[in-house]
Amino acid sequence: MPLPSILAPSILASDHANLAAGVKFAASLGLTWVHIDIMDGHFAPNLTFGPQTVAALRKNSALFFDVHLMLDEPQRYIEAFARAGASQISIHLEPAYDHAATLARIRALGCRCGLVLNPATPAAAARPLLDQVDLVLVMTVQPGFGGQSFRRDMLPKIAEIDRERTARGLGFRLEVDGGIDLATGPECRAAGADTFVVGTAFYGAPDPAAVARAAAAW
Ligand code: DX5
Ligand code: ZN
Repeated sequence: MPLPSILAPSILASDHANLAAGVKFAASLGLTWVHIDIMDGHFAPNLTFGPQTVAALRKNSALFFDVHLMLDEPQRYIEAFARAGASQISIHLEPAYDHAATLARIRALGCRCGLVLNPATPAAAARPLLDQVDLVLVMTVQPGFGGQSFRRDMLPKIAEIDRERTARGLGFRLEVDGGIDLATGPECRAAGADTFVVGTAFYGAPDPAAVARAAAAW
């Protein structure tokens, strides 16, 4: 049985002068997650939010904060984001640091942990860590900016990770991030994804409520 689908609106695409309103808006539609992109200008060529932003949003919201760290040295910031109120902290596989220890640290701090793969990173690279994560995030664009086109060539990677999950009886969520909309979301669902980050196609939609309703049926 596939896991029920979850839509995680990415506040990167919301009004940065009123982020709390973007989070509240998601909650008002009955959504339970928001996705928060953290970039350091090194791992990804952009700068976004920090722990203080997450803490400020946490004061106004009980939603599940899905925090995606796009950092060269994520291990240095785990504690700060956990303390700020992250519900889940996801770290990339590409930089060199102790991934297993960092995932364990995230859990020890009371958060769920996720592992993220860039488009160029093969599914096989995540294999040794799959039994230690609550979520695997397959990037369907190169990290850095919202509004990019979905990489359809990522569908086989999603399917490969889903097959491995079933074969090993693991229960992690399989999330996709980048260019997800009403057309590409169902394609990812068919490939095995169950958790959908949607930025531009949610906050930029004429009727985000319709997007939320549609995604509930993916
Ligand atoms: C990209 C970020 C995404 C981004 C997705 O680097 O990780 O979470 O907000 O935005 P859209 O849905 O517009 O592609
Ligand atoms: Zn993201």
